[in-house]
Parts: sequence; C-alpha cells; structure tokens
Amino acid sequence: MERKRLDPHGTKKILRFACHCCFLLSIFTSTTRAFDYADALKKSLLYFESQRSGRLPYNQRVTWRDNSGLTDGLEQGVDLVGGYYDAGDHVKFGLPMAFTVTMLSWGVIEYGDQIANAGEFEHALDAIKWGTDYFIKAHTNPNTFWAEVGDGDTDHYCWQRPEDMTTSRQAYKIDENNPGSDLAGETTAAMASAAIVFRRTNPHYSHLLLHHAQQLFEFGNKYRGKYDGSVGVVKSYYASVSGYMDELLWAALWLYKATDNEEYLKYVIDKARSFGGIGWAMTEFSWDVKYAGLQILASKLIMEEKHKAHGYILEQYRSKAEYYICSCLNKNNGSNNADRTPGGLLYIRQWNNMQYVSNAAFLLTIYSDFLQSSNQKINCHHGDTLDHQEILSFALSQADYILGSNPLNMSYLVGYGPKYPTRVHHRGASIVSYRENKGFIGCTQGYDNWYSGSDPNPNVLVGALVGGPDYQDNFMDQRSNYVQTEACTYNTAPLVGVFAKLSQLENQNQNLPSVASY
Ligand SMILES: *[C@@H]1O[C@H](CO)[C@@H](O)[C@H](O)[C@H]1NC(C)=O
Ligand SMILES: *[C@@H]1O[C@H](CO)[C@@H](O)[C@H](O)[C@H]1NC(C)=O
Repeated sequence: MERKRLDPHGTKKILRFACHCCFLLSIFTSTTRAFDYADALKKSLLYFESQRSGRLPYNQRVTWRDNSGLTDGLEQGVDLVGGYYDAGDHVKFGLPMAFTVTMLSWGVIEYGDQIANAGEFEHALDAIKWGTDYFIKAHTNPNTFWAEVGDGDTDHYCWQRPEDMTTSRQAYKIDENNPGSDLAGETTAAMASAAIVFRRTNPHYSHLLLHHAQQLFEFGNKYRGKYDGSVGVVKSYYASVSGYMDELLWAALWLYKATDNEEYLKYVIDKARSFGGIGWAMTEFSWDVKYAGLQILASKLIMEEKHKAHGYILEQYRSKAEYYICSCLNKNNGSNNADRTPGGLLYIRQWNNMQYVSNAAFLLTIYSDFLQSSNQKINCHHGDTLDHQEILSFALSQADYILGSNPLNMSYLVGYGPKYPTRVHHRGASIVSYRENKGFIGCTQGYDNWYSGSDPNPNVLVGALVGGPDYQDNFMDQRSNYVQTEACTYNTAPLVGVFAKLSQLENQNQNLPSVASY
C-alpha cells in the first residue's frame, strides 16, 4: 500500500502564494490522518525513565520500575550507579548510551522552544542529565573512562527484572593502555552538546560537562584505538565497525560549538580528508557511523561570515551531507539511494531498522530548517532539486509511518494510539512489576513464567520505538522476535526533536481557520 504523497503540481500551485501558512497547509494535507505529536513527544520522553539504572528519584513517573544496579562498580572500587540500560537487557553499554545523550541534546539545542511549549522542557533535561551524571562518575581520571557495566553474554542468559538482577556486574574501562577513541569521542560529543543545553539553566553543571568533554577528547585523540579492541566483551553487541575517526571529528565539532575555540574547528578542517569526513558518502546514520550527522552539522557553519576562510572544506562536507539527504529521498543515482518498503518506510537493514528511520527523520528535519532559514535548495543527481518543504514532508511521512500511517495501522511507538506492539522484547516490561510483587524472580524463572507466554507484557513500555517491520511492512508481535520487537534508547532519542518540530507546526496549523477541519 502506497502512502499518499504530495502532488507536485498541487504543491507548486500552493507555493505561488509563497506564504508560510500555505506551506503548513500543504505539508499537513499530504497526510492521510492527523497525529497528536505533542502526545508522542511526551511519551517518547517518558521512555527514558523506564531505562533508568540506579536509585530512582522521588519524581520518577514510570512507577513499575524500582531501584536497580546499586552495587555497580563496587568490585572495581568506583561508583558506577546510574545511567541507562540500552534496550531490553541490563547491560550499561557506553557507546550507544553516549550517542543517545548526544541526540537528545541536539534535539533540545534545535527545538528547545518547541519542547518547552509542549511543557516537556524539564523532562528533556532530566533525560539528558540521567546520562551525563553517569558519564561524570564513569570518567574517574583524565585518561580513564568506564566503558561498560555487565556483559551481554551473562546478561542474556537470564530473563529477570532489573530489580532482581543476579548476573555479573563486572565493569570494563578504557585508559592509556586500553584505548577507545570512538567511545571517548562519542562521550565527548554527548557532554559537549549537553553543556550547550545546560548553559543557561545550570551554568555550573555546563562548565563541569565541558571540562570532562575536553579531557576526554584529549585522551581519545592522544591514545588512538577502537574501544572494542580494548573491551572485548562488547564485540558481539556494539562493535565499532566504522572505527573512531568519525567520532573524533564529531567530538571536535561539538566541542567547537560548545566553546567557540578555533582549535577544535581547525581539527575538523585539517583532518577532514585524512579522517574521511569529506570522503565518506553515507546512506545511514547510527550509534556507530556518525559521518552524515557530522557532515550536516559542518554544513550549517557555511552560512556564518567567520567561517568563510574554511569555505572550501566546508562545501565538501556539505556535498556529502546532501548526498545523504538525496539518498533518503531517492534522488541519487541508481543504487546510491536508500531502499523503502512498499508502505514508504526507509529500509536500511532487517535488525532494528527503525533506528535508521528515526535518525534520518531528525537529520532531514534539521536540514530542512537550515535550507529554509538560508533560503536555499539542494541539487541531487541529474539536476534534480529538493527544497525544504519536500525534505520536511518526507521526514513527516516517516514520523507518521511510525505513529500508525502504515499498512498494519500499527504504531511502532509503544503506548501511542489504539494499536501498538504488546510483547516488546524487554525484561522489565514483560515481568510483573517489582512494586506489585516483590518476590524474587530468578534467572531462568523469568524465561519459564514470563518470556515464553503469549500474554501481552504486564507493563507498557510507553514511548519505546521498537525495531519495526521488515522490508515488506510485516511485523510479528512476539517477545522472541527481538529483531523487530526490541526497543533501544537511541531509537527514540532523535524522535524527541522531530515530534517537537511537528507539534509546533500542528499548533500553528490549528490556528488557521481554513484548515481547522482536520
Ligand atoms: C550514475 O549516473 C551515471 C551517468 O550520469 C552513470 O554513468 C553511472 O553508471 C550511474 N551510476 C549508478 C550506480 O547507477
Ligand atoms: C488499516 O486502515 C485502513 C483504513 O481505515 C483499512 O482500510 C485497512 O483495512 C486497515 N488495515 C489493517 C491491516 O487493519
């Protein structure tokens, strides 16, 4: 089933009036149904509370969760209590956790006003701070950073609530002898972007984050190496396939944005070629591969007068950024386009495809804003141009697919709308709440009594974005189908910004009498 798309002639007609309101009208009439993006935004932020490790605060809203992981780091003599579980298990994996925080922070930097208008600003900052508080603890001296607590193999052997965990809580670190430039780089990006977020509301904390970010960058840059070479247990879970050069450039660029220190910009310019920043043309952006995000962030510098001297390199960053955008909209040459399902969903790969979709929706939304504010279009292959409206319309189509505009009429954002996955692959959500039943549930008891049943999960993992449908828009709502039903923190993180932007458009739209009927 094809989604209804913008009729190009209809768009042109509307455009002739060249007014902002007409644009809003054109973008929302292209959807088959209206979604409550403010509700989706609120739910997406709630999800991060379900993933909290450590001692939960008094204002915890997800009440089926309780304290967990309270001895993390004890064996190693460090306090590693806190942070996030990455997905449906209880390992605290540093790289995806840092990427989650970077994307949340970027969302707040771009759409802070819209998030505040929806009444969600405090919740967004809380979600970021739960991660950055942990990164501060894990950075025990300038050249030591704790990379992971728990390990996938041991953890996956059990199906338990986090509150009952009996599995290994061994912690693993990177340091001078065990480098991890990718992990250090991504954590730098997370802390530097969060430093921008907290600059106004909590300047002391912002300073502290910057201090850690700068030290981590120095460490990662000086002692070069992939973190999965140093922390072997991460290899079959979050191996760093793209290496560390993308993260080092990304880290330097976020530090430049946070400090205005030319040294960091110089790094991004000088190493643009040798580190692949202007060499790699990508069709995906993820916790592992940062190039497209880096290229988009770098492109936005072009408009500022003070960056004119670096125009030559920045333009090359932009050319690769636009390759990514064109690929998402299928405007590249032949095989250089991202695939789509028959229902119109971007399709990169089978396992947890939704992460690529939500990341793309975010990058497209940002780039659309950039084109609009700088009054530009982009040129794809064969002189095909794209304007900011087409790009935003496509991002909107992806958000709408996620929320239920798809062949199964299913929302892949858990807890949103009338129909959503009910057997999410998630230990805590699939077992009776600890608050309700404090009796210990053992390692394999969880498999026997909760995992293997066909009942819906007793706890709804509100706001989680699951792995999503296959290349034919099919989805099997089964707990054992982790390829499709597991949710990850970095799936939802980029959606916060996207929903904030769309909820603002929808609000403005509803104020227009002529479109009040839908
Ligand atoms: C891209 O287009 C050019 C002609 O413009 C053609 O020679 C080339 O084979 C195309 N590449 C792919 C991958 O389709
Ligand atoms: C989805 O909704 C449409 C429109 O209401 C309906 O025609 C279609 O049969 C539904 N599909 C499924 C799988 O429920």
